Amino acid sequence: MLLFTTAALALSAGRERGHPTALGRSRVLDQLQPLQLNARPSPTPLGCLRGGASAAAKQCDVILIGCGVPKRGMGWYHAKQMLDGDVPSAQLTTIVEPWFLGQGADSPPGKVFAEWAAEMEAKHGTKFTNSLKDVEISGPTMALISGRTADNPRLLKEVIDMGCKAVYLEKPGAPTVAELEEMRAYAKEKGVSVFMGYNKNVTPYVRKALEAAKANPGSVTTYVHNNAYKESELPECFERNAEGMLKNMAIHELALLATYWGVTVDNIKSVTPDTEFSSCQTLTGPSGKEFTDFSRVGFTIETKDGNTICLKIDRCGSDSGGNSVAIVSKDGKEIFRAETPDEELQQVVSAQSKADPEMMPYFFLQHDDYITLKQLSSQHVIEGREGAPEGMATIDIAVDALKVAEYLTPLLQKALLK
Ligand SMILES: NC(=O)c1ccc[n+]([C@@H]2O[C@H](COP(=O)([O-])OP(=O)(O)OC[C@H]3O[C@@H](n4cnc5c(N)ncnc54)[C@H](O)[C@@H]3O)[C@@H](O)[C@H]2O)c1
Repeated sequence: MLLFTTAALALSAGRERGHPTALGRSRVLDQLQPLQLNARPSPTPLGCLRGGASAAAKQCDVILIGCGVPKRGMGWYHAKQMLDGDVPSAQLTTIVEPWFLGQGADSPPGKVFAEWAAEMEAKHGTKFTNSLKDVEISGPTMALISGRTADNPRLLKEVIDMGCKAVYLEKPGAPTVAELEEMRAYAKEKGVSVFMGYNKNVTPYVRKALEAAKANPGSVTTYVHNNAYKESELPECFERNAEGMLKNMAIHELALLATYWGVTVDNIKSVTPDTEFSSCQTLTGPSGKEFTDFSRVGFTIETKDGNTICLKIDRCGSDSGGNSVAIVSKDGKEIFRAETPDEELQQVVSAQSKADPEMMPYFFLQHDDYITLKQLSSQHVIEGREGAPEGMATIDIAVDALKVAEYLTPLLQKALLK
């Protein structure tokens, strides 16, 4: 059984009705409205959230922990979108930056951070601090944790102890299943909701392919994910992403499999490696240490309840910034394909990257998805709803995805290492 709902599909339908690749606030608002109308019986109309006294009361305070350097850090881009007013339900009140406002303050990126912080404090009244001890919570509040993955277990505990009842946690959430399970248990015990920043869960190419798969029972979906590394860059890439390709790059697809296809370790019937496509290598990183990982990996998963899904993940599969494709096939014939970036988005991203070459290009590519996730989660908090917003991965999904990554890595390495 394919696990997704009409409301989930409404998001992609909304996107199709809008302007598919014109990045910006208006487009995302257009997309969100149908989802909210479908998913929620009495949604807060977005019009009520744009400015004015009532708007202030209808916004969720957001405390960002782990901002990172301007134009480079994921947290910084989240901050930028909220400060720019791209997320109507979210009011960024405080930025906690432990490193660049702490020990790293005198480094060159620390100085860049300080300049930006002073500017934002003056312009928006945003509070900047290097410690959660300086933060107070009043009213609906969501903590957005975008620190280094290894720091997340401690940061999650700290925001929960501070009294925060909702958390947006950047993927993958923690380095290991054991740590993520501990975090989940702590959050559950304290009644805290944890939403995950898995952007592919809400991205249009995925939604459209899910719709095609649902309309064609017995079809097989293949998720293709290409990065744009050169072969010569793989040793550095293997070392920097030492948690391995499945936990690092393919984790986005594994979250899709857990969310929409019921793929958990217990529900896997078979895993068939694509030996022709895959390549597993041991390379020597810049430090002189050896790292064994996949430069590309393909495999098919069959679940006990009858779903078949293929993954093809390639570090060097693109020569133009990376792309992702979802392909639906029936009886061996392709019947549907959706890709990101499509031609129009590619043009927008190229123009924006040319205009601002220092900015991480994936910010431009995934701009809309990041707004969608923050809008869905902050609106959910304001409305005091149970569970998670439609389409957003929870910490349960994150645990399932990470478990599958830990299960598959040795299994596929054994099958593919030459
Ligand atoms: N959803 C997505 O598409 C997406 C994309 C990129 C990253 N992420 C996730 O976002 C999170 C943040 O990623 P990032 O690449 O922005 O992280 P980053 O390493 O650039 O910065 C994160 C934090 O690490 C701290 N830090 C940086 N250098 C440090 C040092 N030398 N010593 C101690 N602390 C230091 C800083 O406090 C900083 O705020 C991660 O969980 C990552 O997996 C998600």
